[in-house]
Parts: sequence; structure tokens; C-alpha cells
Amino acid sequence: MYSAAVVSVLCFVILTWFHILKSLNSRRTGSASGKLPPGPRPFPIIGNFLHLGQKPHESLAKLSKTYGPLMHLKLGTIDTIVVSSPEMAKEILHKHDKACSGRAVPVSAQTLDHHKMSIAWLPAGKKWRVLRKISKEHMFSISRLDSSQGLRQEKLRELLDYVHECCLSRRVMDIGEAVYVTSLNLMSATLFSVDFTGFDSGSAQEFKETITGVAKSAAAPNIADYVPWLKMIDPQGIRRQSKFYFSKLFGIIESVIARRLQARGTHFGSPVEKDLLEALLDISQGSDYDFSSSEIKHLLLDFFAAGVETTTVTVEWAMTELLRNPRVLSKAKNELRNVVGENKQVKESDISSLSYLQAVIKETLRCHPSARFLVPHKAETDVEINGYMIPKDAQILVNVWAICKDPNVWSRPDSFEPERFLDHQKDYKGRDFELIPFGSGRRMCPGMPLAHRIVHLMVASLIHIYDWKFEGGMKVEEVDISDKFELSLRKAVPLKAIPTRNEA
Ligand code: HEM
Repeated sequence: MYSAAVVSVLCFVILTWFHILKSLNSRRTGSASGKLPPGPRPFPIIGNFLHLGQKPHESLAKLSKTYGPLMHLKLGTIDTIVVSSPEMAKEILHKHDKACSGRAVPVSAQTLDHHKMSIAWLPAGKKWRVLRKISKEHMFSISRLDSSQGLRQEKLRELLDYVHECCLSRRVMDIGEAVYVTSLNLMSATLFSVDFTGFDSGSAQEFKETITGVAKSAAAPNIADYVPWLKMIDPQGIRRQSKFYFSKLFGIIESVIARRLQARGTHFGSPVEKDLLEALLDISQGSDYDFSSSEIKHLLLDFFAAGVETTTVTVEWAMTELLRNPRVLSKAKNELRNVVGENKQVKESDISSLSYLQAVIKETLRCHPSARFLVPHKAETDVEINGYMIPKDAQILVNVWAICKDPNVWSRPDSFEPERFLDHQKDYKGRDFELIPFGSGRRMCPGMPLAHRIVHLMVASLIHIYDWKFEGGMKVEEVDISDKFELSLRKAVPLKAIPTRNEA
């Protein structure tokens, strides 16, 4: 027993020395001829983990003031490049897009071989391109989204009925919670249409917990991602947790698919309305794409995991900023009254005429980008930028939060001023590297066209007819706007308010 302990200690010491020598050497030279970008000196084994602190986006933004917009850190054994300016983001996501569009696959995404079929985790190769093409042409095209807008309108009606109930009973509403349920319903309406309306509240709650479980286990910082020999041990239990939630979500999706296949079999002469699932089943049975029916469930899992939390967080932040900025709220409400009319429900076709609301959403995404580092990219080859070497396999974090809060990029970056977007045409469609909450280039969020509609529609609906009062007479200057680093940049304290009927 003693000899086993001695051998373990010896191995540990040798590994530590090997690691120190290797990291010192690689800091000087990089993995090829160029030198690595500057950065804080790493500690043995853990590297720069201690530099990340509780809020890595803020800590890294601060560090970039010392080391510059292209920075190198060592997280465990992983070379990590942190990008903190629009110019460097353009280098990575535009000029060197191809070489920098790999993914550093976390242990959790390897659950049930998900990463081998996932649009979010596959390398940007042939299989991934097929999934992107299917998503673009069959899910998020204008015509496809237009044809499913009636389903979303219905789910929005349900949200407004709930707000109405709270208004009548003067009940405090947890806005984030109500928005989460609606995002989930909107997403399932778009993806599965009528099949999901049968969900009773018990199973809806279970579905919500399952999706949150999947997304949380995928996003949880896992030491085993940075120190590979810990993978087998699974010290934080994240692999076990992922397996539980992934299996559960796959089970739910499989049963939806089975029901749909059964229904398809009985629809002689009256085809089911072509929702996304219908389109995916057609594609998997046709010969145009190399796309199997088992890949459908991986794609749908990705959409739920990537889409629900991000849209919810964005709407909750938009509402928070509107309620704490009465001047902005009043301008947005006036615009809605003029464009939509007094008592009509807002429609997706109204969005293009609501320029002030669009500015509010852009400013929300600037102040509160839900994916503060995008989804981490990975260098597929050595890349040289500004005389520095980004070594092959390095993880690349684009600190969107730092760019959005940089006073050299945005004047008064900490204040919420939608007007800044009325003066010039900056947008989040991936061309303006000052504002890239959805990313840019080949890995850019494929769900952006749907997110654009859902976020505008929900915010507009919540403020159009109703006014909002904070619980307990809280004043606007008392609203807590701190964020917490979790699955995404959520509000630390949930936004709660009572809806009242607009008197105007
Ligand atoms: C406000 C809402 C949303 C925000 C802020 C957002 C943001 C992002 C960001 C930053 C990325 C990573 C881009 C990169 O790595 O360069 C991403 C990827 C992705 N998003 Fe979104 N997203 C939102 C909504 C959605 C929705 C509604 C869906 C689908 C229904 C979706 C599906 C995806 C998928 C599948 C990926 C992975 C793409 C790939 O790796 O090729 N997202 N999103």
C-alpha cells in the first residue's frame, strides 16, 4: 500500500516538473516559431485559474488593460487566447475565421456521443455544414418563420392572459420566470407546433427542469476540461449529471418524434402543417442530405439548450432596463401606441416599424450579452496575428462583454442609452465587431432570426398594454442590476413587479 502511495507521489512530482518545464518553454516559443501573446504568468498545474475570479468576464477585461486585446493564459493544460477588442475579434472571426472556428468540446458535451452529431460542438467540417444548411433553409428562413408565426402568436396570448390575471389580482409577477415558460413554449411551438400544446403543467415543469439541467451541465466550469487526467475521476460529478439530463431530454424528444411519426402515418391526403419537425423528418427520409433520423434529436436538443435560456435572459434584462429607465419606457410605449394601436396584440410584422424598440433591444444586448465569451472557439491550426502565435488547439474566448463595456469603443458604456443606435446603423448581425452578442462568421448563432422575433415580440407585448410597479414601493434607483456568472449572464436578483393597466 505504501509503495503505491510513493509511486503516486513520484508520478505527481514528475508530472508537475514536466508541466512547469513545458509551460515555461511554450510561453517563450509558442507551439510554432512565433511568440505567444502576452499574459499573466501561470502557476504550475492550475495555470491562470486564480486570475479568473468570480466573474471571469470582468477579471479578464481588467487584465486586458495590462496585457492588451490579444492575451494568452494557461487554464490547467489548455492554452487560452482572450480577445478583447473589435479589431482583434475581426481578425479571429473574419480574417482567420476558417482556422479559428473549431470547438473546444467540454466533457459534458461528449455525453452519449452528442458532440459527434451536434451542430454546436462538431468541428466546422462537412457534417456540420449540412446541419447549418438545414437550419438556415428549413428552420430559420424568412418564409419558414413567417409560416410558423401564428403558433408563436398563440403562445404570446397565453403570456398576456397570465399578465392579465396578475394585473386583476394585483399579484407580483416574477418576470424572468414567466418569460422562461413563454420562451420554452415559443420554442416548442416553432419546433414541434401542435404536438407540444398537450403538455400539462406537471410535464411542462419537468421539461423545463430537464432543459435547464442539460444547459447547466454543459456550461458548468469543469476542472476536468482543463486537467485531462481528471476526466476519468469526474471530480465535480458533471459527467454523471449530464448523462442523467441528456438521457431524459432525449427520451422526451424521442417520444414526440414517435408520436409525430404515428400521426404522419394516419394523415392520408391531409398533411400536417410543415413545422420544423415535419421538415426534419422529410429531410431524413429523402436523399438530398446525409441526415439520419437519430440526428434530429441531437439537433433539437441543441436548439432548446442554446435558445431558451439566451432569449429569456435577454428579455428579462430588457424589462429591467425599461422599468428602471421610465423615460425610455415611455418612448417605447408611445411608439407602440402609434405603430400598433391602442389595444391590438403586437405582431411579428410590426417589428420592422418599431425602430425605437429595436434600439432598446440592441442596447440591451450591448449592456447584457448573455454569451459573454461566445461559445469558446478552438484554433484548428497555428495562426499568426499581429506578430503573435495562436497555437493549434488553443481555446479562444472572445470577451464580448469587455468590448461592449470599453469606453474607447462606446461612449458612456455603463449607461443605458438606446438613442445611440438611432444615430448610426450599428447592428448585431455580425458585421459590426463592436456589437457581436450572436457572434460573427461561420459559427455565428444560426437561431438569430428566431431570437430577433421572439425577443422583440415578448418585450413589446409586456409593455404595450401594461404599466409595471415594483413590489413594496421600491424606487427605480434601488433596482439591483448586478449579474451572476452562471449558465449565462443572468440577473443576480430576479425582476419582480406588478402589472397594472395602462391608463393613457
Ligand atoms: C437572444 C438570444 C440568443 C443569443 C444572444 C445567442 C447567442 C449565441 C452565440 C454568441 C453563439 C456562439 C457564436 C460563436 O461561437 O461564435 C450561439 C450559437 C448557437 N446558437 Fe444562439 N443565441 C440566441 C438564441 C438562439 C436560438 C433561439 C437558437 C435556436 C433555436 C440558437 C441556436 C444556436 C446554436 C445551435 C448555436 C451553435 C452554432 C454553431 O456552433 O455552429 N440560439 N448563439
